[in-house]
Amino acid sequence: MRNSLQGKVVAITGASSGIGEATARLLARSGAFVVLGARRMDRLSAIVADIQREGGQAISFELDVQQQGQVQAFVDGAVKEFGHLDVLVNNAGVMLVAPLSDLKTDQWDRMIDVNIKGVLYGIAAALPVMQAQGSGHVINVSSVAGHKVGLGFAVYCGTKFAVRAISEGFRQEAGPNIRSTIISPGAVATELPTHISAGPSKDAVDAMYATAEISADAVARAIQYAISQTPDVDVNEIVIRPTAQEF
Ligand SMILES: NC(=O)c1ccc[n+]([C@@H]2O[C@H](COP(=O)([O-])OP(=O)(O)OC[C@H]3O[C@@H](n4cnc5c(N)ncnc54)[C@H](OP(=O)(O)O)[C@@H]3O)[C@@H](O)[C@H]2O)c1
Repeated sequence: MRNSLQGKVVAITGASSGIGEATARLLARSGAFVVLGARRMDRLSAIVADIQREGGQAISFELDVQQQGQVQAFVDGAVKEFGHLDVLVNNAGVMLVAPLSDLKTDQWDRMIDVNIKGVLYGIAAALPVMQAQGSGHVINVSSVAGHKVGLGFAVYCGTKFAVRAISEGFRQEAGPNIRSTIISPGAVATELPTHISAGPSKDAVDAMYATAEISADAVARAIQYAISQTPDVDVNEIVIRPTAQEF
């Protein structure tokens, strides 16, 4: 049976670490042509070299998803290199957790710009391509924080609720040939919590991750599952978290 991922062109934002990196590596091993985007080019170059050494096909682009022009160039670059775009994984994200009363408005701006506007810029770049092709799949990485609000998580949760709302709207509008998947992970062992400023919020998050976390590979396998369905099957959301996670 033909591998359903063989030759699929999959562009992944935030592919320099964590879930994005694991997804790029797993999909490339399954025969997909992967296009990696992030700001840390040294990391991307090393991952691309690993994939190519294993016989996979991968290219990378420097990408700040806060810049619409760069997201457009990322998608255009994928299409130019491989001729089409089957899947866009809007994965890039930041989690800068703090109580609202800390008034870290710069961090609020960054979460809104990366987690929400980055996803919208991805849709803006990919949707016309997918409509012209008559096929495509947009996968947006939300979170269990897109389902439930935790103390100190107000803005991060707001961005992840927004990702789920935008994804559902996209699903309804994109028509019968374009698929839409929300991936909502719980605690995953990545660099994500390391960017939180020191303080009680960071201590609480570190304690939560110390209790239970799953590997980024587990989330990559969920993404692979959604992509590998036949074109008539649209897996709309996968919530995936440690068995022991309460929240
Ligand atoms: N880990 C968890 O527990 C968890 C749970 C639920 C949801 N998620 C979501 O999963 C996604 C991936 O996070 P992760 O856990 O894998 O964390 P991670 O290891 O910190 O990865 C985040 C990725 O996003 C990229 N990124 C950050 N800002 C960017 C920007 N402005 N432009 C382009 N790329 C940017 C980073 O690359 P550069 O710094 O090189 O740009 C990195 O590749 C996020 O959307 C996160 O909210 C994670």
